[in-house]
Amino acid sequence: MNNQLEKKIPKHVGIIMDGNGRWAKQRGLPRIAGHKEGMQRAREIVEAAGKWGIKYLSLFAFSTENWKRPADEVKFLMNLLESAIENEFGTLMENNVKFLTSGRIQELPGNLGEKLQKLVAATTHNTGLVLNLAVNYGGRAEIVDATKKICQDVRAGLLDCSQLDEELFNNYLYNPELPPADLIIRPSGEMRISNFLLWQAAYAELVTVDTLWPSFTPADLEKALQEYAGRERRFGGIVS
Ligand code: IPE
Ligand code: IPE
Ligand code: MG
Repeated sequence: MNNQLEKKIPKHVGIIMDGNGRWAKQRGLPRIAGHKEGMQRAREIVEAAGKWGIKYLSLFAFSTENWKRPADEVKFLMNLLESAIENEFGTLMENNVKFLTSGRIQELPGNLGEKLQKLVAATTHNTGLVLNLAVNYGGRAEIVDATKKICQDVRAGLLDCSQLDEELFNNYLYNPELPPADLIIRPSGEMRISNFLLWQAAYAELVTVDTLWPSFTPADLEKALQEYAGRERRFGGIVS
């Protein structure tokens, strides 16, 4: 492992796992074949992220806008998620991974939301990588949901609006323990954030790669980390 790189490992990395459909189309396969392959990459990248010493990894699996897709595709994605929850429990425990989820999981079909919550509870004492899976997630929805919770506390007399600041607002997000995102990686060549981690990514470095997600390897992660390590972050200040 490269020593220079190790010194500049981002604490919180977000990945927009995009390009599954195009990967399948290029191979004359149905879109769902791309999602299936993409799931394998997610497993490998979680492992690789742990090896690099990344503490928090947020993976964008399904957005609040992805419901616009054909019902069959949505159903396949939900089933894929359900089997992953069942199949990956052992691996998460073995690797000491703490699992979190961000999104309106209560709106997911069947008892998928409950299953996700159970996984969160079962891994809550793990001390290794924190894996945050964004499912039925939208950055705007997260900010609206936080604001609703704040309104509830104000109504209940638990909070005075004048107390509100960024730190307090952060406490009402889906997972207050998530630090700001340092690096957002978007495969598939698109140059947009697509409603991912809007609050947390305020000062994130963006790295886009042309590779489609089902072809994204640990070597691509390393390249993105290298690019990140070469960036100069200023947070609005100046570097002397
Ligand atoms: C990302 O791949 C997976 C989800 C959004 C669920 P896409 O399905 O968006 O793949 P492309 O962008 O159509 O290639
Ligand atoms: C972003 O990809 C959402 C996920 C990867 C889950 P999309 O494919 O939905 O984004 P757009 O539509 O290209 O912006
Ligand atoms: Mg896409």
